Amino acid sequence: MKPVHGVVVLAMSWVLLAGCSEKHSDPSWAYAPDMHYSVGLKAQKEGSMRPPVKGTIPRGFLPYEITSIDEAGKILKNPLPASSEVMHNGKNLFNVYCIVCHGKYGEGDGSIIGKFPRPPSLQSDKIRDYKDGQIFHVITLGQTLMPSYADKLSEQERWSIIHYLRVLYRAKHPTSEDMKKAEGFVEE
Ligand code: HEC
Repeated sequence: MKPVHGVVVLAMSWVLLAGCSEKHSDPSWAYAPDMHYSVGLKAQKEGSMRPPVKGTIPRGFLPYEITSIDEAGKILKNPLPASSEVMHNGKNLFNVYCIVCHGKYGEGDGSIIGKFPRPPSLQSDKIRDYKDGQIFHVITLGQTLMPSYADKLSEQERWSIIHYLRVLYRAKHPTSEDMKKAEGFVEE
């Protein structure tokens, strides 16, 4: 073997062995080091979890400035259509955020009642006659023992729950028209 070949073989075996380092995270030789030691931030690691700039507002969470429930009833209108998609969404959210206290049909018989004071029924004439904006006001600010949902539910989510509350009311107070349609389905 000519000496020059020996050098080439030695160099090649070094290149091949370089790939056999046991610690993949810390190789002895890195091809394209600027890709290997990326400056990109890793999710959930220090540096990427900086608090948002002061005053930052998540999309759908505008500051709420209405101070009275009557004013809310007059000013605010439900921007969402009472479509089946909206009501399904409202149902899912109600079952996550409200059902524990208010119960499946909003009758105040949720699973934590007993340990927690019973809320008034959402099947009442009062809530039936409430404007959507008045209910929005209660969900947004809370009311005595009921917590505020302003930071947990976006405005759209709050409005979709309100559509679903109307569905719950209708389910317990069917119109004669509803009853006619249901004939044959409901056992006497
Ligand atoms: C931790 C229990 C709890 C949860 C969860 C809860 N509420 Fe309430 N809610 C109450 C209580 C208690 C009251 C009665 C407050 C009062 O005495 O004024 C109330 C009152 C209300 C009222 C007004 C009823 C009235 O007659 O004045 C509405 C509307 C309402 N809740 C809707 C909701 C919706 C919608 C959710 C889910 C986003 C929800 N609540 C989640 C406990 C709860």
